Amino acid sequence: RKKVTIQTIQNLYKKNEPITVLTASDFPSGHVADTAGMEIVLVGDSLAMVAMGMEDTNEVTMDEMLLHCRSVNRAVKSAFTIADLPMGSYETTPEKALTSAIRMVKEGGMKGVKLEGGAEMASTIRKISQAGIPVMAHIGLTPQRQHSLGGFRVQGKSAAGAVKLLRDALAVQKAGACMVLIEAVPPEIAEIVTRRLSVPTIGIGSGNGCSGQVLVQVDMLGNFPEGRFLPKFVKTYADVWGEARRGVEAYREEVKSRAFPSVGYTYPVSKEVLEEFEK
Ligand code: KIV
Ligand code: NA
Repeated sequence: RKKVTIQTIQNLYKKNEPITVLTASDFPSGHVADTAGMEIVLVGDSLAMVAMGMEDTNEVTMDEMLLHCRSVNRAVKSAFTIADLPMGSYETTPEKALTSAIRMVKEGGMKGVKLEGGAEMASTIRKISQAGIPVMAHIGLTPQRQHSLGGFRVQGKSAAGAVKLLRDALAVQKAGACMVLIEAVPPEIAEIVTRRLSVPTIGIGSGNGCSGQVLVQVDMLGNFPEGRFLPKFVKTYADVWGEARRGVEAYREEVKSRAFPSVGYTYPVSKEVLEEFEK
């Protein structure tokens, strides 16, 4: 497969062919996403929860994100790679944001960055984009801002909310964002925003009227322990956790019963050596 570039993504957008995006947090998850043909692999800060067991995304640091980026990058041969700028790495000044974005490229091996926020992030998006680093803006439900949003709630649901969403989308586009991720917005609203933009929208929980879709890989693969809260918009395409658990349980049984390892899983030794040794 040819390397996916920003032009490839532009061409898909022009052809109205949905852009496929999936998160990854390490070598195997990056590898499967790339091999299965994802156009974009996103190292999302959701890895704080799904790979590191943290309470929320706000705990993960820049250095931790970089470690995951490097692992993903070693696996991804074709897909375009984008990483989340974690909370604290970009909000204070556009200069600080650019420094963080450059680290994502130079140390993390990423091609672009994603950051949360709308109109208020315009100068930051401009700063990073003008340095030649593609920026994906993340609007609608922005998990890093959960406490000022009052939790994980649908956005753009009221008329005023929908107007704000559209304003944010237009502002980040004007600032140079090459894509706009729209999270947890009613499908009709996300579709109208998509039509009003001239850059692709990537939806999560925002219906099929967006220019592309993204999901968190462990969620869509069912690769998480029982009891993890899943948002309504997550469709589970596999039962990786169940498979892993069945495998580990079978192994446990066979070790306890000494069924494993049977002869086939061992190295032979000659009778002569054995007799000599047993003397
Ligand atoms: O961190 C993440 O996984 C995200 C999702 C919206 C894909 O930002
Ligand atoms: Na994120």
